Amino acid sequence: MTMQTTGPMLCVVGARPNFMKMAPILRALAAHGEGLPHLLVHTGQHYDADMSDKLFTDLRLPRPDINLEVGSGSHAVQTAEVMRRFEPIVDQHVPSCVVVVGDVNSTLACTLVAVKKGVPVAHVEAGLRSFDRAMPEEINRVLTDQIADVLYTTERTAAGNLVREGIDAGRIVFVGNVMIDSLRANAQHAVAPVETLRRAGEDPGRLGLPPRYGVVTLHRPSNVDSRDALEPLLVLLRDTSQRLPLVIALHPRTRANIDRFGLAGLVAGSGLIPLPPQGYLEMLGLMRGATLVLTDSGGIQEETTALGIPCLTARENTERPITIEQGTNTLVGRDPAVILRAVEEILSGGGKRGRVPELWDGHAAERIAADLARRFVVRAGAVA
Ligand code: UD1
Repeated sequence: MTMQTTGPMLCVVGARPNFMKMAPILRALAAHGEGLPHLLVHTGQHYDADMSDKLFTDLRLPRPDINLEVGSGSHAVQTAEVMRRFEPIVDQHVPSCVVVVGDVNSTLACTLVAVKKGVPVAHVEAGLRSFDRAMPEEINRVLTDQIADVLYTTERTAAGNLVREGIDAGRIVFVGNVMIDSLRANAQHAVAPVETLRRAGEDPGRLGLPPRYGVVTLHRPSNVDSRDALEPLLVLLRDTSQRLPLVIALHPRTRANIDRFGLAGLVAGSGLIPLPPQGYLEMLGLMRGATLVLTDSGGIQEETTALGIPCLTARENTERPITIEQGTNTLVGRDPAVILRAVEEILSGGGKRGRVPELWDGHAAERIAADLARRFVVRAGAVA
């Protein structure tokens, strides 16, 4: 029998990339022993139906117990608002620990609130570093890891990064990758690409028969927030789509900037197939059937490695080096000539195959639940 010394664990999600990490953790907490008491807190950083609700359904996430409804804002406003609204939740529930995932503003905000109240924090996906402090996520990662109590890592290089930053090795636990837990748990439910196009009102015939296409996602501020960055990328996509149809799932930030810079003409009338943000099962189906993926997302670099699909990452750096060393990922930066050459190589040779990294085995969340139970839940009869 388990007995808590304090209240339930508070498991925090905020933005889209958090949801697929938290879903398997919640299932593992519920399945551990008689169940580890926990509550799901959604900060509301992402709030749209297709950025949040749809993902909850796809991933079979329970409805959040608490929604802080912070919405959009500048980094300062968003982070501060999460902190203001999370503090009374911590006061009310006196959690045994707070579990945060990834590197979004909500991750850092809730970590700051909890540690200053003496509540232990467990950070899932710790120790990843792009070494690029211009990236808001890098700031969130470095600061969260400095102050969190337990650091769960997805790849072995992460521990080296943490130790170099002066973090005690005793706080670090290599558990593997919860993203891949989600991927495996949902593989059989993936939506066929032709069906995804049909649902979006696009002619599935545009993918060819049999379907042969690439998938594109771009949303990093460095790629989409200035016309100088976005326009050449869209020109490149338009040109590439003459060779291979490209399905591009447009993040709200990217969609807004295409309109703001008057670039809508570049995504219409070519082999580019623009779609709204896609659900988890639709993206899984699209990626699994793709000839290649071009992205600036962190999670997609990992998912394509697990799926064995060649991935071109339109960034100068990655915090996920294992996807390059062992997986199917290639960094191509933002130079259209370099990207085009990499696309041609894949079209002619099939691209990188790679292998699935250590402990990306579908069981990372179980290892996390077992470790959390050991640390934060007292067994009845045990001497405190
Ligand atoms: C955030 C994360 C980023 C993650 C990305 C995934 C931080 C610092 N960044 O960036 O790491 O890769 O989510 O999507 O936390 N918007 C909507 N609907 C929504 C949410 C946002 O329309 O549900 C709009 C906002 O109004 C804003 C833009 O999308 O104009 C960006 O949203 P924001 O949450 O600020 O950052 P992301 O770029 O999504």
